[in-house]
Order: sequence, then structure tokens, then C-alpha cells
Amino acid sequence: MAKPILVANWKNYPASPLEARSILKKYSQNREIYKKTHFFVAPPLPYIGDVSEKIKAFGGLCVQNLAGISSGTHTGLVLPDILKSFATKAAIVGHSERRKLGETSEDVAKKVQIALKAGIAPIVCVGEEVQDSDGEYFEFLRGQIKKSLSELKKSDAAKIVIAYEPVWAIGKDAQRPIEPEELSQSILFIKKVLTEMYGRIVASKIAILYGGSVDDSNAEALAAVPGVAGFLVGRASLNAGDFKKIAEALTKKK
Ligand code: PGA
Repeated sequence: MAKPILVANWKNYPASPLEARSILKKYSQNREIYKKTHFFVAPPLPYIGDVSEKIKAFGGLCVQNLAGISSGTHTGLVLPDILKSFATKAAIVGHSERRKLGETSEDVAKKVQIALKAGIAPIVCVGEEVQDSDGEYFEFLRGQIKKSLSELKKSDAAKIVIAYEPVWAIGKDAQRPIEPEELSQSILFIKKVLTEMYGRIVASKIAILYGGSVDDSNAEALAAVPGVAGFLVGRASLNAGDFKKIAEALTKKK
């Protein structure tokens, strides 16, 4: 199996650069385990310099979002050229917390192209808000995937990563953690949609991550679900001890 992918999504934490450096130092003490993964840290923008510098020996910088524009003069936006100068390797696009602020799948489709053009790997987040018992959420998921990837050509499709993040399982307000069986069904469904769009061979090359309340207690069971290529971790990534256990669970995957 290819190396698993592990992304630490720090969201709006920690509160100071000092604390950010302390987490990075602890990550670095566990670097041997992170080296067994494709490891990325997605910090708040003011910390990208520190993150890029301090993890370069065992990981890469990821950003939490991209501007929907790639050139010109736009006060308040950070464009890909600057991100590239910090050695940004990946970008989370379409996170549900951004979709909640009004980002549409059409916006996400544009950002996927902007990332690819800049040589940054887009990690495209998809996930249903609620899980109904009739399985209608699968159709929601199909629509979201198709629209978010509507500009993506088959020749570029293997360069993206999908992060399946059901909204109901994310963050401190999560209803409950996902069960491995539920995750397995959603991964299979996403693979089916990607196969419809790009054919079986290309679809099999698109890594699918899981994100939503991954912690040290459920990581092993979720990592064992067939088709899970890695994790996108929010809260638990800020606790270096818990996060190390998640990395270990992922690298145990057969
Ligand atoms: P969580 O967040 O791990 O805190 O649930 C995951 C995410 O939103 O990417």
C-alpha cells in the first residue's frame, strides 16, 4: 500500500505563534512516525513561515483555503505565488466550514483549477450535512462531487485528493463519531462516482481521506476501513500526543 496521507487542520488555533512553535517542536520529536506518512500541516496563515520551515524535514505545508483568483492586485487576498514561495504543497478546498460561509461547489471547482495551475495539490472536501435513513444523502454527495470537480480534466484527476468529511461528524458539535461500516459505504459510493466521471483506472488513483472527529480512540478502526487513504484531523491534531497515536494507527494499516 502507498504511504498514508495525514493532514493536521489547525483551523483557528493555536492562539499564539509561541504555542504553534511548541506543537511543531513536539511533532518534530515524533518525526520518524510522520515520515512514514505523507504528512501535511494546515495552520492559520500567519504561521505558515514557521510551519514550512520547521516541518520541512518530515512534512509539507498545506493551506486551509485558496483565494478564488490567481493574479492581479486584490487587497486582503493571499494569491498562490506567495503561498508557493513558502513551499506550500497542498490546499484544503471546500471545507464545510467555508461552505457554511457561502462557498459554493462552483467556487470550489475554480479553486481546484487554481491549485493545480500553481502546482499545489487540492484536497477537496465533500460531505453530507445530515445522514437520512433513506440514503438520500448519497445523491447529495454525488451532486457535490460532480459540481466541485466540474472543471477537472481526466488528465489531472489523479493529482487531487478527496476528503470525505460528513458535516454531522465534524468538530466539537459533532452529533456522534462515524461508524466504520458507515464510512465504508460512503467511501465505496465516492469511488463509484469518481469511476463514473473518470473511469476505473484514474478513479483508483484518487486518494480518499476521512475527516470528522478522528481521535486516538477511533483512528485504528477507521484506518482499517478499505479505501481510506488517510485522515484530515482537526481538534486532535493540536494535541501532539494524541496526534502521534493517530499517525501510528494509520501506519499500521495493511
Ligand atoms: P475535527 O475536524 O477533527 O475537529 O472533527 C475535522 C475537520 O473539520 O477537518
